[in-house]
Amino acid sequence: MTRHLLITGGAGFIAGNLVHHWVASHPGDRVVVLDALTYAGNQATIAPLVNAGRITFVHGDIADRPLVDAVLAQHGITHVAHLAAESHVDRSISGPGAFLATNVQGTFTLLEAFRARWQEQGAPDAWRFLHVSTDEVFGSLGPSDPPFNEATAYDPRSPYSASKASSDHLARAWHHTYGLPVLVSNCSNNYGPYHFPEKLIPLTLINILLGRSIPVYGDGANVRDWLFVEDHCRALERILLAGSPGSTYCIGGNNEVANLDLVHQLCDLMDELAPELPQRPSRELIRFVADRPGHDRRYAIDASHIRNELGWEPQVSVTEGLRRTVAWYLANRSWWQPLLSDEYANYLETQYVTQLN
Ligand code: NAD
Ligand code: TYD
Repeated sequence: MTRHLLITGGAGFIAGNLVHHWVASHPGDRVVVLDALTYAGNQATIAPLVNAGRITFVHGDIADRPLVDAVLAQHGITHVAHLAAESHVDRSISGPGAFLATNVQGTFTLLEAFRARWQEQGAPDAWRFLHVSTDEVFGSLGPSDPPFNEATAYDPRSPYSASKASSDHLARAWHHTYGLPVLVSNCSNNYGPYHFPEKLIPLTLINILLGRSIPVYGDGANVRDWLFVEDHCRALERILLAGSPGSTYCIGGNNEVANLDLVHQLCDLMDELAPELPQRPSRELIRFVADRPGHDRRYAIDASHIRNELGWEPQVSVTEGLRRTVAWYLANRSWWQPLLSDEYANYLETQYVTQLN
C-alpha cells in the first residue's frame, strides 16, 4: 500500500527533520506538508524537496476545517503525523492564546476532519493518526524521582504544556470513543539541525557567533533529557509503521543534563570548531538571568516501552549529536541568518535585555 502521509508543521524543527527522513526512507510514499508558516516555520527547511517535486507543500492553518478537509480529500491522505504546534514555553507565558488556538482547537479540527474521512472510506484498518506530544505534560520531577513513563499522571504546569495535555486527551478520546486509529507519543527535549534560535541550544550557538550574552535562567541547574532529533524521527517512524493504535509511547534520550553543563559543553565545542571567533573563551558570555516563571525543575523519560515493543533506541550519543549540531549551525548560516528579523530581535529584547544590562 502506498502511504499518503500528511505531516503538519513540516516547516518547523522536528517535522522538517521528519519530512527529510521520511522522503529518504520511504521514496514510494506521498508526503504532503501543511504549515501555517508562523514565525517558527521556515520554508527553507523543506524547499529543496518541494522544488524537486518530492513533496507537496500546502500553506494553511490546521484549525481551518474546510482547508483540512480539502487537503485530506485531494491528496487521499491515509496517515497523519501531527506536529504543528506553538512550541515555546516562554512565548506561552507572554501570549497563551495562540497555544489554545493551534494546539487545542487545531488538533481537534484535524482529528474531526480525519475521522470524517476515515469513516467515509469504511474505517480502513491501515490508516493512522500520530499525535506528537511532549514530556512536559507530566509536570516536574524532583532530583530522586523515577523518570516519567506511560503510566505517569498528567500534571502540566505551563500554558504550553497545558495546551499539549489537552490535545493529548482529545487524541486519546477520539480513539476510545470513535475507534480512530490514533497513536500518541510524548518525547523529551530535542536538538539538532533546523532548530529555531529561540530554544536553548540554537540560541546559545547563535549568540556565541554574534558575540552576544548567553542567558541562563535561574541557577542553571534545571535538568532536561536531550534527544538528537534524528533519533526522534526514527521513533516516530517506528510508531507510525508498527505501533498499536490506542497506545502511547514515551521517547527520551536517557541523557539528563543540567542547563549550565549543557551550555558549557556548547561553549567548549564552539571554541574548538570556530576558533576564529573574537570573543573567547565563549564561557565568558554566560549571564545568569531571572528565572522563567513556574520553571519545571527536571524532566526525564523511561523509554523502555518503545524499546521493548518496537525495538527503538537512540543511536546518537550526546557527544556526537552536539558536535553535529554545532557543525551544522556553522555550515548553515544561510538558514538561520534570515531568521534574525525585527520580530526576533524584539522578542529577544523583551525576554532578556533588561535582565542582561
Ligand atoms: P516548531 O515551533 O519548530 O515548529 C512548529 C511548526 O508548526 C512551524 O513550522 C509552524 O509554522 C507550524 N504551525 C504553528 N501553528 C500552526 C497552525 N495553526 N497550522 C499549521 N501550522 C502551524 O516546533 P517543534 O519544536 O519542531 O515541535 C514540533 C512538535 O513536537 C510540537 O507538537 C511539539 O509540541 C512537539 N515536541 C517538541 C519537542 C522539542 O524539544 N522541540 C519535544 C517533544 C515534543
Ligand atoms: P527550551 O529550549 O526553551 O525548552 P523547554 O523549556 O521546552 O525545556 O529550554 C530548555 C531549558 O533551558 C529550560 O530549562 C529553560 C532553559 N533556558 C535558559 O536557561 N536560557 C534560555 O535562553 C532558554 C531559551 C532556555
